[in-house]
Amino acid sequence: MSKGISPICHSYTMRLFRVTAPPRIRTGLIITVVVSLSSLWLLMQQISSPTEGEKSPSHDSVVIKAHTSAKETTFSQNRYTHQTSQDQGDVYLIAEESAALVIVHGDEKQKDFGNQILVALDANRFKVKAVKFETQELPFLVKGGEGLYSIIIFQNLLTYINLREVDRSLIDGYCQRYKVGIVAFTGPSLDNEYSMKVGNFPLVMDKKMTLKDLSLNSESPVFHITKTKRTLSGILPGEDWTVFRSNHSTYQSIALAKTRTQDMLNLVPDSKPILHTTVIHDLGHYDGIQRVLFGSDFTLWLHYILFLDSVRFLSGGRLSVDLKRYILVDVDDIFVGSAGIRMKRIDVEAMLVEQDILAKLVPGFRFNLGFSGKFFQRGTDEENLGDERLLKHADKFWWFPHMWNHMQPHKYNSSSKMIQDMKKNKQFAQDNWIPVHKGYAVAPHHSGVYPVQEELYSSWKSVWQIEATSTEEYPHLRPSRNRRGFIHKGIMVIPRQTCGLFTHTNFFREYPGGRSRLDKSINGGELFRTVINTPISIFMTHLSNYGSDRLGLYTFDALIHFIQAWTNIQLVTLPPVETAKKYFEIFPKEKDPLWRNPCEDSRHLEIWSSKKSCSKLPQLVVVGPQKTGTTALYSFLSLHPYIRSNLPSEKTFEELQFFSGPNYNNGLDWYMKYFPGGKNNSDQYRFEKSATYFDSPYAATRVHALLPTAKIIAILTNPANRSYSWYQHMKVHEDKAALNHSFYEVITAGSDSGRSVKSLQKRCLEPGKYATHLYRWLKYFPKQILIIDGNQLRDDPVSVMSKVQRFIGIQPRLDYKHFLRYDSRKGFFCIIKRKGKSECLGKSKGRIYPPMEPRAVEYLNLYYRQHNLQLHSLLENYGLTVPDWLVKDLARPPQG
Ligand code: A3P
Repeated sequence: MSKGISPICHSYTMRLFRVTAPPRIRTGLIITVVVSLSSLWLLMQQISSPTEGEKSPSHDSVVIKAHTSAKETTFSQNRYTHQTSQDQGDVYLIAEESAALVIVHGDEKQKDFGNQILVALDANRFKVKAVKFETQELPFLVKGGEGLYSIIIFQNLLTYINLREVDRSLIDGYCQRYKVGIVAFTGPSLDNEYSMKVGNFPLVMDKKMTLKDLSLNSESPVFHITKTKRTLSGILPGEDWTVFRSNHSTYQSIALAKTRTQDMLNLVPDSKPILHTTVIHDLGHYDGIQRVLFGSDFTLWLHYILFLDSVRFLSGGRLSVDLKRYILVDVDDIFVGSAGIRMKRIDVEAMLVEQDILAKLVPGFRFNLGFSGKFFQRGTDEENLGDERLLKHADKFWWFPHMWNHMQPHKYNSSSKMIQDMKKNKQFAQDNWIPVHKGYAVAPHHSGVYPVQEELYSSWKSVWQIEATSTEEYPHLRPSRNRRGFIHKGIMVIPRQTCGLFTHTNFFREYPGGRSRLDKSINGGELFRTVINTPISIFMTHLSNYGSDRLGLYTFDALIHFIQAWTNIQLVTLPPVETAKKYFEIFPKEKDPLWRNPCEDSRHLEIWSSKKSCSKLPQLVVVGPQKTGTTALYSFLSLHPYIRSNLPSEKTFEELQFFSGPNYNNGLDWYMKYFPGGKNNSDQYRFEKSATYFDSPYAATRVHALLPTAKIIAILTNPANRSYSWYQHMKVHEDKAALNHSFYEVITAGSDSGRSVKSLQKRCLEPGKYATHLYRWLKYFPKQILIIDGNQLRDDPVSVMSKVQRFIGIQPRLDYKHFLRYDSRKGFFCIIKRKGKSECLGKSKGRIYPPMEPRAVEYLNLYYRQHNLQLHSLLENYGLTVPDWLVKDLARPPQG
């Protein structure tokens, strides 16, 4: 019996959401506390992704049956059937965004393989939940009657076999009910046993085997990527293979191999060799669960694609990859390479021959050449003839512009110089009849593409009408599997992959690790896996890789032949802009960029203009919401001699509204220009305030990406009052809906009301659902948030400003009683100016308007009750102070 995975904790909810109400509101709270807890739980379930550590409230949930007649996906043995049914009765559902649950082994020695499994799944963009055996609890498997996992993977079969009974029945029950399969690998043999029965299954494992000549059973239904009719001849890597034996009809071999000693023993001529099953498929006839068991890990390259095939098959096709792969080979630095390693005439001829060969295997294949005209004819005599040959056959290739003089865009002092250089390169192309019409360009060393140098984008557009480029740098070079694309200023930026060839690898002897390492990468290793994992691969190579030992030709010829020999992958090449369009067709969610902090990545800093500096970015962001006193806080903060706000925007005044709206598309350079100052700004504490951030669905993620260490301030007032203030604000701004409808009419308007009323209603009501919005911020900044009570800011700004200064750690601290005083005419605190005069906020802040109608008060009290309860629990859970207005509000009986 294993220890380790313990049953799901029944007290989890109570542990997480402990409630400690102050005595004065305890009575009121006691009635509502249960509702509060469950509603907060629901809130968190709604907001967080299903695999982020949720727990089941009870074991029973695993066996919940979903009663539905809606769309469903069912799994039928040996093939996938995706059925839509209107009248199915009881069916079992797997959540749309289902994931793989991986139980990794706790043993340090096996950690590496556990990571390899997770990386393989992640590289294929499957959602993954990893649980470490012996230290972590089994997660919640079902939510709302839907199964959360499409496959369960055990890094070590013995973990599964030895699970505690309760966990085993939980997993098996889940697999049976939701038709989910299990993949398991045999781990290293740690004992002296050579044979063992696999738990209570009619199956025996023979261990510590050394094997050769692996063949695949083409009868198996599991194969998808893997081509079956091949034998992997020769000795299989590793000396600790496990093979499987059984007489039960539930088992079918997927892969088989001979023992290494077999040929010596097979003395009888023509006797059939004994084949041992190395990968086995349990068809589910024994206990209703399909399984694939591997007798070794990924040391054998073939297991990688067999694993992906198994995941696809056993997840009923939910965790599946398409067989089509788009591949584009860029050959950059054309003419740039130094004399001695450039292409000669004969190399150009070889390239053309190889291009024809590859085009037969990969429809549409062409080499895509990037040129810098300035370096034309700068090689040896022979190489100069090579340059001429390239031009002679220019129409046989695709061409794209590199920078004329190979200068990195971030080093240009002006965009006019950049444009001038681009035009020179264009002129060179025209003079030499180079057909550059593909709308694609690449910048030297990724400079200017990401982090963005706006001048590069605008110059590319104006000179070349560029539509697409590629980079390895977004969001970061490593891990390469997480590279992504984005669209900025009409240019599609797509991720580029690494093929292992660089400007310094021109001879086999120069290749790090030698030719055998390159071959390993191609024959099932890193390069092969890149193509398997990535639907669209753009590989960067260089002119010099096609001279010298022609490693470029060697690599792609070998790679493409290997892929075609062993897989059903269909390789295709599209022109670069079409490739980019295809990318966003496959990954439409990636279009919007997420600007990250260039100073968090040393490579990004190297390709960022020296004129830019992270010390210009704000350290504090006041996020709103609107109508809670944000302008007052902004002006009070600005009084401090060492605190500096952003410059005002022409359109949105003191608020830049960068993270919450269309300004985000202007990019980081745009944002940074509002924070001027020298490179060394250390004596200035910079902040930004935009009240639209608080309830924006994107702002928290975006702020965290760019300013991960920033402090955040949110101001909360009674949401009903906030809502009414917004209505009054819109009335002053002559909003038609506000002028023509009473506040009560607006907030109670039904779904059949006009657009303008519904839109006003939304802005009145939505921001006040504080818990929903605040939770997004707390997820990213759990320890960097200050919540200000808006009423306290209004009535006692001096003590609020002390709190704020302590929170941001500014020195020296101002005593605001010397700077603020109550102005009885305005009815608010105002700034004390010289000669004792007051400077109050403008007319639009702190206006006088009639009190809210009682029925509106009553309506809103009820409307916000749940949200306020959630807010109370949320603040308590994060150890944040609960504002007085909230305490009072919740102490009132629910019916207003
Ligand atoms: P009203 O104008 O409805 O009274 P914001 O700046 O976020 O838009 O918030 C405006 C609200 O700030 C005002 O709403 C007012 O109640 C509040 N406020 C708090 N302190 C203030 C101050 N010193 N001067 C003016 N308004 C203040």
